[in-house]
Amino acid sequence: MTENNLQHIAIIMDGNGRWAAKRGLPRNAGHQKGAEVIIETAKAVKELGVKYLTVYAFSTENWKRSKQEVDGLMNLLRQYLDKNFEELEKNDVRIRFIGERNMLAADIVAKMENLERRTISNQSLVLQIALSYGSRQEIINAVKEAAQKVKEGELTVEGIDEKNFSQMLYTADVPDPDLLIRTSGEQRLSNYLLWQLAYTELFFTDTLWPDFSKEELKSIIENYKTRERRYGKA
Ligand code: FPP
Repeated sequence: MTENNLQHIAIIMDGNGRWAAKRGLPRNAGHQKGAEVIIETAKAVKELGVKYLTVYAFSTENWKRSKQEVDGLMNLLRQYLDKNFEELEKNDVRIRFIGERNMLAADIVAKMENLERRTISNQSLVLQIALSYGSRQEIINAVKEAAQKVKEGELTVEGIDEKNFSQMLYTADVPDPDLLIRTSGEQRLSNYLLWQLAYTELFFTDTLWPDFSKEELKSIIENYKTRERRYGKA
């Protein structure tokens, strides 16, 4: 059997709140542990030779959570942007952010842009962090961009195709995910990468994100390699 190519893994990191509740801790303690697991997972993905990892850190829906939880997540992000992503930076990881930047605080956006600039030449792994991200919004933005290009005569209506449309998404230049993992037993896409996941293999595990490990990642990859992938078929 030929092994499936695996270039890109996408993850919906779910279950931080339940992990914390099980320990009698505040929800943000779950996010804190969850953020540490992002670093460990990125290192593991790189060691396993996979070139792209996209993680869902904060959805546009997540803005509706309590102020305390949102503030906690934003402060955690500041801490990672200031210090904790350094380890990945030194490990030749390029970091990019996808999502609605205009909803984030200006100091956070400045730190994100700075990190993106500093890591732009790193090649071992591209880590995309979805922040204030919603897939329908991403698609609408791309539709608007296409319409604008038509209006300006840069593109014709007939000329719009999957290839040039993909280039108008946040994920331009990144191959679509081959494998999506969602933790914590939920089986939904939650407005994540809806266009990009069209042919992706889906994998659901009951493990809560803060308990996710390199061993489990390896076993999911083994499972993925045995699957028969069907591109463009029903
Ligand atoms: C889902 O668990 C997780 C989130 C909404 C946030 C994920 C964020 C992180 C892992 C940390 C991000 C930090 C950085 C620095 C990028 P949940 O809270 O919905 O858990 P529950 O379903 O058990 O309540």
